[in-house]
Amino acid sequence: MCGIIGYIGPKNSIPILINGLKRLEYRGYDSAGISFLNDGKVSVRRCAGKIKELESSIKSEKLKSPIGVGHTRWATHGKPSEENAHPHRAGGIVVVHNGIIENYFELRAGLKKKGHKFTSETDTEVICHLIHSYIKKSKSLEEATKKALKHVDGAYAIGVISESEPDKIIAVKKDSPLVLGIGEGEYFLASDIPAFLKYTRKVIILENDEMAVMTRSGVSISNILKNKPVKKKIMQITWSPTMAEKGGYKHFMMKEIFEQPRAIADTIRGRFSIEKAKVNIEEFSLTESRLKNLKKIFLVACGTSWHAALIGKYMLEDMAQIPCEVDIASEFRYRKPLIPRGSLMIVITQSGETADTLAAQREAKRLGAKVMTICNVVGSTSAREADSVCFTHSGPEIGVASTKAFTTQLTALYLFSIAVAKAKGKLKPKEIKSLFRDLLELPEKVEQALQCNNAILKIARKFHRVSDFLYLGRGINYPIALEGALKLKEISYIHAEGYPAGEMKHGPIALIDKDLPVLALAPDSNVLEKILSNMEEVKSRGGQLIAVATEGNSKIQSRASHVVLMPKTNNYLSPIIFSIPLHLLAYHISVLRKCNVDQPRNLAKSVTVE
Ligand code: AGP
Repeated sequence: MCGIIGYIGPKNSIPILINGLKRLEYRGYDSAGISFLNDGKVSVRRCAGKIKELESSIKSEKLKSPIGVGHTRWATHGKPSEENAHPHRAGGIVVVHNGIIENYFELRAGLKKKGHKFTSETDTEVICHLIHSYIKKSKSLEEATKKALKHVDGAYAIGVISESEPDKIIAVKKDSPLVLGIGEGEYFLASDIPAFLKYTRKVIILENDEMAVMTRSGVSISNILKNKPVKKKIMQITWSPTMAEKGGYKHFMMKEIFEQPRAIADTIRGRFSIEKAKVNIEEFSLTESRLKNLKKIFLVACGTSWHAALIGKYMLEDMAQIPCEVDIASEFRYRKPLIPRGSLMIVITQSGETADTLAAQREAKRLGAKVMTICNVVGSTSAREADSVCFTHSGPEIGVASTKAFTTQLTALYLFSIAVAKAKGKLKPKEIKSLFRDLLELPEKVEQALQCNNAILKIARKFHRVSDFLYLGRGINYPIALEGALKLKEISYIHAEGYPAGEMKHGPIALIDKDLPVLALAPDSNVLEKILSNMEEVKSRGGQLIAVATEGNSKIQSRASHVVLMPKTNNYLSPIIFSIPLHLLAYHISVLRKCNVDQPRNLAKSVTVE
């Protein structure tokens, strides 16, 4: 998830680009750059680090230009560095891009064969070279861009400028957000509204396959597949700039909860082939033969990522029938772990900087394990030190309470489990294809699950004053009971516990009374009857029951005073779906208790100390 800005008009574009990028810093901030045109000549300024580094690096030049584009990066391909920063250039063509080009490897190889020289590790640079290869054979920059994009598979929001037509910006959208700002004789393009809200509140939202041609005299929009002009509605935005950074949501956490369909779609994009029944995680450097010979897998993490690790164990042992051991990172390194030869350590960390997790990762390496990290930050310490990396493409997660990073970790674990199961011959192609079809439906299922928001708000209104909460789950959803409890603890400061439902009779049942709300996770599964009887135990002792179940469950209504129904999916993906109401419940209770949702007391987004 990166930030794009573009401007054409009577003003000096440079400060507009820099200010716009600052407003988009929440979308990515590991490197930044701008490109602008003067007298038909294009210039590029880029640097690693935050936008303020870019700003100070150009300050003395007092740059001026009426047209330019800018970009702030959240790396997905290629480490954060000046040469990988956008804008990218080929000859007189400059491109800024947000998204993932799935077939960039093949395109790059083909272009290299034709003599194109690449200077970065990014997928984006391929787009510049493709447009450059067409510009001389096309009547216009938009024509060359259309021809180039016909070769491209994947998601992109792009801004293009060219020395050949220095009074024009081209913008094209496909599966990554792109909006236009319509000013008085000036026009903006951006990944998100906050970038230009200071200058205009008139906005056009581009849809997939739409191209905007922006000149000093106006904007024309067409559909590049139908080759037809498109009439677009101009929206009047009433948000404040701060609200706009949160996409109109009150808190980053809520925005990130609702970003999950996109985040999951980005994490799976281009990483598996149904027809070949095969996983292909491009950063994933462990070979199929190494997976086949794996003897044991260790999973280590902290907090919410540890819950993902627990779920990973269920997936791996069930799909690939490989023994797995899960550790809390801060325990792992002090327990003298026995790591047999041929073991793999999976480190799960959103930030890639958690001190306890890094220490466990280094200890595992010292003991001879190969290490793969599932991480959300390209260039982070964990990613750099691991033998293999599977990046979650959820984009920056600003809220301290992890949501989209967690569900994309589970998505990555699902893909990895299938890869190991296939390598070990434990799943037939038919079974793999079915698992992939369920995965393809997941973003839509998450969209459906998010519709429970209002029902959850009602439940939050009833229970936001309690002092204790109990979450119960079984099987692969037991860690989701832990996750629901952690989320409630960390953002509403209510004491909450997650428990395996079968453990109730071994102690926690003594807690049950009318003042203790109990949330039971009851998805359709081989243990549904068990959890229903656990719910009876709670109800018969006067406990207040909230149940989250699978739609179509006819027995659940009589068992609980509050029931929330989730869309059906396979057992492995049910934790992703069932985490959504629990994250929303913690969020709404936190807001009702007037807690600081995005920055809860005593907590940091990344715990870089032991
Ligand atoms: C998640 O809601 C918490 N903020 C916290 O438990 C977090 O998951 C933990 O600190 C691990 O962080 P990491 O994934 O960046 O390593």
